[in-house]
Amino acid sequence: MSSPTAKPAWRALAAHQQQRNHLHLRDLFDQDESRADKFSLSVGDLLLDYSKNLVTDETLSLLMQLARETGVTELRDRMFTGEAINNTEQRAVLHSALRNLNASDFKPDVGSVLDKMERFSASVRDGSWRGSSDHRIHDVVNIGIGGSDLGPMMACEALKPYQQDDIKVHFVSNVDSSQVCETLKLLKPESTLFIIASKTFTTQETLTNAHTARDWFMRQVGDENAIARHFVAVSTNAEKVAEFGIDTDNMFEFWDWVGGRYSLCSAIGLSLAIAIGMPRFRELLAGAEMMDQHFQNAPLEQNMPVILGLLGIWYHNFFDAETHAIAPYDQYLYRFPAYLQQLDMESNGKSTRRNGETIEDYHTGPVIWGEPGTNGQHAFFQLLHQGTCLIPVDFLAAVHSQNQVGDHHRLLLANCIAQSEALMRGKTEAEARAELAAEGLDNETTERLLPHKIFSGNRPSNTILFQKLDPRTLGALIALYEHKVFVQGAIWNINSFDQWGVELGKQLAKTIDAELRGEETDARHDASTRALIKYVKQ
Ligand code: F6P
Repeated sequence: MSSPTAKPAWRALAAHQQQRNHLHLRDLFDQDESRADKFSLSVGDLLLDYSKNLVTDETLSLLMQLARETGVTELRDRMFTGEAINNTEQRAVLHSALRNLNASDFKPDVGSVLDKMERFSASVRDGSWRGSSDHRIHDVVNIGIGGSDLGPMMACEALKPYQQDDIKVHFVSNVDSSQVCETLKLLKPESTLFIIASKTFTTQETLTNAHTARDWFMRQVGDENAIARHFVAVSTNAEKVAEFGIDTDNMFEFWDWVGGRYSLCSAIGLSLAIAIGMPRFRELLAGAEMMDQHFQNAPLEQNMPVILGLLGIWYHNFFDAETHAIAPYDQYLYRFPAYLQQLDMESNGKSTRRNGETIEDYHTGPVIWGEPGTNGQHAFFQLLHQGTCLIPVDFLAAVHSQNQVGDHHRLLLANCIAQSEALMRGKTEAEARAELAAEGLDNETTERLLPHKIFSGNRPSNTILFQKLDPRTLGALIALYEHKVFVQGAIWNINSFDQWGVELGKQLAKTIDAELRGEETDARHDASTRALIKYVKQ
């Protein structure tokens, strides 16, 4: 019974889904004035309104039953107590320990690395850390990829209003030289600090970019001894850091029990700590810890990550919704969908159960995508409203803007709330007809346009509101989605903490790179791959 589809709750949900076909959210709201109160929940500063979902009390109770039958809470407890639940790599999964500041005896090194980050980031910010020619640091370049890039980059963008003005943080991730070259063009070596961020310190893209940055630096400064004032590393691999030429005194450590995509709260957040200062970085940790505590202690029925995870399962597994849209109505969160793509898709894009069985009878991780509102409204929202796919949406918005100017923020919020209402209500034939009549259209035109003007509605969404996008709130949001992904992985009975699927492409790229360099290899490529290699070489 390792497949969730064999659980009684799964079967009951499948039957329930068939029975509830005739329900429309509009009617559910009309029938129950208390629906919004009943299906919403606050944790700290976050309000989750999940009332615009295709659920009734019975649906939720069956989903909770599914969580119980699939052992979500047991796996959660094993994670928090440090069991090696990443069973293919025999590793504990303890990103929560990075922000559990009261349990320093659990992982004592966490506190000392945070203190080291504090000393270092303060010295860069106050100018006491000097470059080799006694200049202050004005540019910090984080070189990393995946979890060693997306977390700090997303958070630096999200918390831009909290950044120190005279220090600019840049991110270089892609092995495409255009990114590193365009970044280096903006910099002066004497006032630049490079943070080479890589858990393994073996990642091809990061090392290639790091070497290019070092060559650029050496061409202009010409002094090996200067490297120590301009290059620091964040890694679990001291040996490789030393091999690259960075003094391990200038290395900020983290541990194999922190997954790359779960590492923002570790020293991987160093660029963020420099940008916003360590006290604010600690506020972000506190926000994440608050959500960790909630996830650990709240009953399932009032547990925000559990509710989000189960709603995702409901659509993905019982309505065949293949994708899930993230629509932050907050420009500062413009990289949040990209960050969640790695968090969710690298964690739950699996087709093998924890015990090695192949998954054949249910889908795991959905495609995560999105853009900030209101831009998305003028691009892909047409499909959300009238397309043939069911796409659940998460709307996120702050009640208070960081830039209170004119009517902007009120308009932004009005649009955000209107979109979820429109998706839920739709527009009936009678309403569309009345609108066309009010425009004074003749009968023939009305009948011709009518089918195009009808919106089926009944399209689900969650709305997450918070007071202000500050470090604490961002920490809580990050942990909320981390645990949502955990809940879904637990139900699908997959290991959300490995990523073997990225390996094959890396291996093949090494061979093809050798061939592009003109080396003979014993690789036997298909005709398409051979032709592409030939085309590039010619
Ligand atoms: O290839 C995928 C991956 O391993 C991610 O999981 C990780 O976040 C990224 O590469 C970067 O890895 P590293 O921090 O070891 O350079």
